[in-house]
Amino acid sequence: METSRNINIIVAGCLLKSGKVGIGAGGKIPWTSQEDMARFRQITLHSTVIMGRKTWESLPVRFRPLKLRNNIVISNNTQFKCPGAVLARSLDEAISLCEPEKKIFIIGCETLYNEIIDKHPEKINHLYFSAINYDILEVRENEIDTFFHLEKYISIDWKQVETKTYDDHKFTLYCL
Ligand SMILES: NC(=O)c1ccc[n+]([C@@H]2O[C@H](COP(=O)([O-])OP(=O)(O)OC[C@H]3O[C@@H](n4cnc5c(N)ncnc54)[C@H](OP(=O)(O)O)[C@@H]3O)[C@@H](O)[C@H]2O)c1
Repeated sequence: METSRNINIIVAGCLLKSGKVGIGAGGKIPWTSQEDMARFRQITLHSTVIMGRKTWESLPVRFRPLKLRNNIVISNNTQFKCPGAVLARSLDEAISLCEPEKKIFIIGCETLYNEIIDKHPEKINHLYFSAINYDILEVRENEIDTFFHLEKYISIDWKQVETKTYDDHKFTLYCL
C-alpha cells in the first residue's frame, strides 16, 4: 500500500571537473569513506531499500541482502536471482511491494534516481546527499560511468534540514 511523499533518496556523489556528479565506476563506488558507509547503514536500518539490479550486484556477496532491511531489487529479467531480496519488474511495482509502516529508500542507482524525480517527484520526502571530496577518488575521472543528475534535483525547492562536514565528505539532508 503506497502513501504520498514517503520515498527517500540516499546518494553519495563527487563533483567532477567536468561539472557532472560521479557516483559509480566499473560496477563499484569509486571511493572509500567509512564514515559515509556507516551513516548509510544507520539511516537505512529497519527500512525498505529499493535498488537496481546492478547496484545489487555491486554489493559484496557477504553484505547482501543488506541486513535488517527489506531489500527490493528491480530488473526486467523475471528469472534474476537475488536471494534474500524481493524482485520487482519496475519501480512502481517495487513501491507497491513496500510495507506501509517502513521508511522507503531508493539507494541507486542512476536510472532509479532519474525515474523517481521524472515520474514521481510528489512522492519524494527526503534527499540524503553526501558530497564526496574529489581527492578521495580512487579512479581517474574519465573512468566514472554512473552519474547523479543533479540538474533534475536542484530545480526543486528543497529545505536544508541538516549539514555536517567531515574530512572526506560533506553530508546534507534536504526535505521537500
Ligand atoms: N554513489 C552511490 O550512492 C551509489 C549508490 C548505488 C550504486 N552506486 C554505483 O552505481 C553503479 C550501478 O548503477 P547503475 O545506474 O549502473 O545501475 P542500477 O540502476 O543499479 O541497475 C540498472 C539495472 O536495474 C534494472 N532497472 C533499473 N530501472 C529499471 C526499471 N525502471 N524497470 C526495470 N528494470 C530496471 C535493470 O536491470 P536488468 O538489466 O536486469 O533488466 C537495469 O539494467 C555501480 O557502480 C554502483 O557501485 C553508487
